[in-house]
Amino acid sequence: MRTDVVIIGGGPSGLLLSQLLNRAGVDTVVLERASRAHVLGRIRAGVLEAGTVGMLQQAGAGDRMLREGMPHDGCIFSDDDLMVRIDFAELTGKTVMVYGQTEVTADLYAAQDAIGATILHEVSDVAIRDADTDAPFVAFTHEGARKRIDCAYVAGCDGFHGVSRKTIPESVRREHERVYPFGWLGVLSRTPPAHEELIYANSANGFALASMRNPMLSRYYVQVPLSDRVEDWSDDRFWERLTSCLPREVAGTLVTGPSVEKSIAPLRSFVSEPLRWGRLFLVGDAAHIVPPTGAKGLNLAVSDVFYLHQALIRAVRHGETDGIDSYSARALGRIWKAMRFSWSMTMMLHRFDGEDSFAAEMRKATLLHLAQSETARRDLAENYIGLPF
Ligand code: APR
Ligand code: PHB
Repeated sequence: MRTDVVIIGGGPSGLLLSQLLNRAGVDTVVLERASRAHVLGRIRAGVLEAGTVGMLQQAGAGDRMLREGMPHDGCIFSDDDLMVRIDFAELTGKTVMVYGQTEVTADLYAAQDAIGATILHEVSDVAIRDADTDAPFVAFTHEGARKRIDCAYVAGCDGFHGVSRKTIPESVRREHERVYPFGWLGVLSRTPPAHEELIYANSANGFALASMRNPMLSRYYVQVPLSDRVEDWSDDRFWERLTSCLPREVAGTLVTGPSVEKSIAPLRSFVSEPLRWGRLFLVGDAAHIVPPTGAKGLNLAVSDVFYLHQALIRAVRHGETDGIDSYSARALGRIWKAMRFSWSMTMMLHRFDGEDSFAAEMRKATLLHLAQSETARRDLAENYIGLPF
């Protein structure tokens, strides 16, 4: 079997890349370890930058998002009862779209099916071979048989735990990491959202986020120690903590109900560079992880896909390799700026165990400055709605 580009991983990065390449006449095969149901059962973040919205439309996978997604032209940052609104529309002329990543992934699968793209599920033991030569191939097991696909390029879209990054020799890789001493406990509940816009809340009890999926489905998070387990958090305990973190005027009208999903995710910042080794390219979570505080994870994956799909189309269709040569540097330029933003949002909003009174005052002063300075609000808005590709 032979194709132009083997794509490892059928998450949002792999599917979007496959969709854009196929529509431009570049042949792909997507290899995904899990079943489709498993991929679509994962609950992830839900804020799409304007650039991401544009890319999904360009891929022919944006119709349902435009119908069912909720455009938001601002969000709230709070410190106890102080609420600061960031008006994206006024400050930047742009908005974001609140639409779950799970839905984005479902729409991409539907779009791939509609054009007859090749996606193999439940593949195992994927091995990328000879990526540093002109004749790479990918070996894997599917339906009980060992198989091989020869290709011109390999796109590693297989997330943080995938094989692609580890295929790049350690002597070539540079990894940068920041692990934060807390996680986010997330709860999904069939209740109306606490507020019409997202609220990022700093409080004496730590960080909380009030988000949503639709007018009858809320998504909330509270900061928890890394040692906590989901079983430690009954619904009652969760609602009590959330209520104590939100500004009183919002907490007073909060509608609670049974959780329909509850999970804990650790927070980390991570970058592995370079993003290219020979004919292998890293995309999305395979190359970098951001803490969810800035809502950048999926959006950063999409900007990687933006750079890489252009580069691969030029290489495969026109034999021009300049885009491929510059992919890593172009993508990393934007990645590091999103890293900085997610890190600074994380530091601005979370309580660190054992911290002194100075740290809490710094957070309060940052929020107060945001309340009083349009320049500070514009800087935050510019980063939140997404820097240009
Ligand atoms: N072989 C084949 N597939 C694999 C392998 C492997 N060895 N390892 C992992 N995968 C699959 C996973 O099952 C998953 O479906 O690769 C996919 C990777 O998807 P994601 O983890 O969602 O990563 P990505 O597509 O880059 O999505 C961007 O940004 O911050 C995040 O939450 C955000 O997940 C989103 C991501
Ligand atoms: C979410 O809705 O899940 C969400 C929104 C914004 C974030 C993180 C997660 O920053």
